[in-house]
Amino acid sequence: MEGGSMPPRSDRKGRVCLAWPGKRLRCNTAASSPLTPVERFGGDREPWRNQLILGDNMAAMAALLHTYAGQVRLIYIDPPFATGHSYAFRSRIGAADVVEELAFEDDLPNGMSGYLQFMYERLGIMHQLLSEDGSIFVHCDYRANSHLRLLLDELFGPESFRNEIITRRAQTKSLQKQFASLRSLNVFHDTILWYSKSPDARFPGPYKPASAAQRRAAWQSLWNNADRPTMRYPLLGCTISRGQWKWREERALRAAANYQHYLEHHAATKTLTQYWEETGRTLEFVRRNGSGRPAYWIPPRDRVLADTNWLDIPAYSYSTGYETEKSEALLERVIQCASNPGDIVADPFCGSGTTAVVAERTGRRWLACDSARRAVQVARKRLLQLPFRSPFDVVALDAGPQRPSPSVEVTVDGHTVAVRILGVPTQHLNRLPSSVAAKVLRHPVEAVEYWAVDWEYGGVPFRNCWRSFRHRRGGGLETVARHTYAATGTYRIGVLATDIFGEEGFAELSVRVG
Ligand SMILES: C[S@@+](CC[C@H](N)C(=O)[O-])C[C@H]1O[C@@H](n2cnc3c(N)ncnc32)[C@H](O)[C@@H]1O
Repeated sequence: MEGGSMPPRSDRKGRVCLAWPGKRLRCNTAASSPLTPVERFGGDREPWRNQLILGDNMAAMAALLHTYAGQVRLIYIDPPFATGHSYAFRSRIGAADVVEELAFEDDLPNGMSGYLQFMYERLGIMHQLLSEDGSIFVHCDYRANSHLRLLLDELFGPESFRNEIITRRAQTKSLQKQFASLRSLNVFHDTILWYSKSPDARFPGPYKPASAAQRRAAWQSLWNNADRPTMRYPLLGCTISRGQWKWREERALRAAANYQHYLEHHAATKTLTQYWEETGRTLEFVRRNGSGRPAYWIPPRDRVLADTNWLDIPAYSYSTGYETEKSEALLERVIQCASNPGDIVADPFCGSGTTAVVAERTGRRWLACDSARRAVQVARKRLLQLPFRSPFDVVALDAGPQRPSPSVEVTVDGHTVAVRILGVPTQHLNRLPSSVAAKVLRHPVEAVEYWAVDWEYGGVPFRNCWRSFRHRRGGGLETVARHTYAATGTYRIGVLATDIFGEEGFAELSVRVG
């Protein structure tokens, strides 16, 4: 075998594990870069700030370990699936002009060995971030699910395996039906592997809306065919010689008495469901059914505990133009399944930010990371569209490219300053269709996708006081920002702008007011 010796195929406990050339676990927390915020949303004094990190998640997690080791309740990851494909981001200028660019590539060097090494060292560090009652959901598909299952068994222990969940895959056209015979079936589902940090951890569980039948109350036989003589007792004048009652005697007798009480005192004026609701939705009932056998009452339900089949909700969504975006319905179920409000939820492959958005909406704290600048910009925009939002920081692990200055025009009227954005130098006009490029040349502001102002810029982090951005259909960009200062003086203003290709620009101005 080329590339060094092969690691063993079983661990110290004799458990089977995957081997590939160059396999090793590494996490250099000492060399990690500090998590310095570059853009700040919300006040400075909050004890907790959510974090949207731009950079390689290995470096980001190594830095996060300093503060958050053992504190994260839930990690959801939707990493590269080892597809070998490239994925796009589609944005718009105006209603019709679509600009497509590369968002990220799912094409790691060295084939499956490279992929496994990439995932192994990252899953190892995620294990350290999780709290003892925490867990991880790993979204994958048929290409790598068997490999990832073995990696997770090795790192988390097979006893911490919780479930393999199936979710609905993005819509794909089945090409098979045009052929006389099949090579394979069209793939309909993705897999989510759920592992806990500790085998003893317990979780709130995921609920889904009840079906029409489950929304109606029903009676069900109390008898089943498991043969336990200790569970055979006389009940409502009925004795059995085989099988068993499902409930212990005391519980069944109490439920029978409850039903009798309802019949004698309430049946004339209210339904059993009304009576059950008025008495706090806790009472159980047993009666004799039509055939004379005891039956217990199943109350109407709005929601039921979900099992591992999550095909009832879409797993993918197409709201941002970021290919591979997952649905908020999926993340709601994951987050509800394995965390409580206030818990820390992390997504180190956050893409368009679905996990952060849902964590925010459901009252969790969150840490999100992506190495693609575009992903972080899309996530930032999504978060800014939420009606209520906790403070968050955008953190960049490295400075990024030199930023060209956006052109702005400033007017001062007494204590009020107006900043108008005129354009942002874009280096990629040649990537636009010629008609769109001509439009941008005529109106350079057409190339601005997002811009923001810090009215009292004091250096990094940029404090985002005002912002405007294009919405998904292309419109919505305000071109003038206004601010009235309380006192006469000279102020530094920071202007941050992003063009339609995700290139960022920054300008610093000085104004005298009053
Ligand atoms: C399948 S997408 C995630 C989509 C996301 N769940 C959503 O709802 O939009 C995978 C993401 O992982 C990111 N990624 C790949 N390698 C990474 C790395 N080493 N560090 C951080 N992010 C990475 C890619 O840029 C991409 O955005």
